[in-house]
Amino acid sequence: MNKSFDVIVLGAGAAGMMCAAVAGQNGRQVLLLDHAEKLAEKIRISGGGRCNFTNNAARPECYLSENAHFCRSALAQFGPRDFLALVEKHGIAYHEKKLGQLFCDDSSQQIIDMLDAECTQGGVERRMGVTVKTVSSGAAGGFVLDTSLGCFEARSLVVATGGLSIPQIGASPLGYRIAEQFGLPVTGLSPALVPLTFHVDDAAAFAPLAGVSLDVEVRAGKGRFREQVLFTHKGLSGPAILQISSYWEPGMEVVLNLLPDCDALAFLEERQGSEQLLSNALAELGWPKRFAEAWLARQGCPVRLKELTPKKRLQLAEQLHHWRIKPNGTQGYKKAEVTRGGVSTKALSSKTMEAREVPGLYFIGEVVDVTGWLGGYNFQWAWSSGYVAGKNC
Ligand code: FDA
Repeated sequence: MNKSFDVIVLGAGAAGMMCAAVAGQNGRQVLLLDHAEKLAEKIRISGGGRCNFTNNAARPECYLSENAHFCRSALAQFGPRDFLALVEKHGIAYHEKKLGQLFCDDSSQQIIDMLDAECTQGGVERRMGVTVKTVSSGAAGGFVLDTSLGCFEARSLVVATGGLSIPQIGASPLGYRIAEQFGLPVTGLSPALVPLTFHVDDAAAFAPLAGVSLDVEVRAGKGRFREQVLFTHKGLSGPAILQISSYWEPGMEVVLNLLPDCDALAFLEERQGSEQLLSNALAELGWPKRFAEAWLARQGCPVRLKELTPKKRLQLAEQLHHWRIKPNGTQGYKKAEVTRGGVSTKALSSKTMEAREVPGLYFIGEVVDVTGWLGGYNFQWAWSSGYVAGKNC
């Protein structure tokens, strides 16, 4: 005979654990299932082991989705302050690193332990290392899951299987397949918050600069960020590039303002006729010398300031403020922090995350077409969407 629950939560990651805890504490009999052996591996490896668990400034504008307003309701029902209250209730010490990003002082394991304790308080039954073979509609409504541990059934099924990034720790497309099986559309998917790779020529010119980092303003599509860019052996990374990668499409240029705090033309004009090396002048503005030399050589610039004609000065100033680079791709799901796109928000209620046409079926967290900026926004979406589903399932 099938073992029966009120709710099955599929995926014991950030969103699934939050949802299971809330539903359990709301009086539901909950089963939390995962194919991984360990709980919430992505929380464990996040934020360099300290979990950037939310962002003080999380607001709908910090999320990408076909429907930019979709995340509004869940964020309003359970926002950063609510998650922080939970963290404080559990006595977890934290600090703000920069730009509203909150991290554990000690270890991301504390967040996993906190969610686990909340699940225990809600009487959640947990089964790890379980393979889900099929998901189907129950004869009398609800859902039946055929698994390696036998069949389980429930009135509500919450899909919290996350995105496709880092397949080596358990990412799978199961959530998207379940959506399609029940007739919910899934948008295009792509790696996001991911390093971008150089074309061959740029790679040859800039590979020796691996390790150099620079404060820039970066733009692509509708995205615009002021952060650090990092040169790597394969291309560009660092927070500025991870952020902009979510807005980047194949074939698009990325535009970097390499001197965001300086009027480059005025700076060059003040020094016209000078014997100074251009690379030394740019180093005065904080550029690493070896970056200045390689970048100027790649732009075909003269060596000394006095060699700049008025036309070349104008061109150089333009390049300094709008350095255009065309990446040839990304480093893919192996290096991406998240997946952009997912289960279409058109098919879900933004208040509860329930499928509009399939009563009892919920999608939460990264599997949904809601992708946050870098900096704690994605976990906040996991908590917010998990909470509202947990209250309603
Ligand atoms: P999550 O991936 O957490 O959980 C999904 C669960 O479903 C997993 O336990 C998985 O095993 C399970 N599952 C998948 N397929 C299954 C199947 N077929 N059967 C059964 N179970 C299955 N965000 C942030 O805000 N701050 C940060 O500091 C970081 N840092 C960070 C670092 C790195 C290296 C990565 C890769 C990602 C981040 N992120 C982040 C992003 C963040 O980890 C991510 O957005 C959330 O974990 C998403 O939560 P979910 O619960 O939706 O998926």
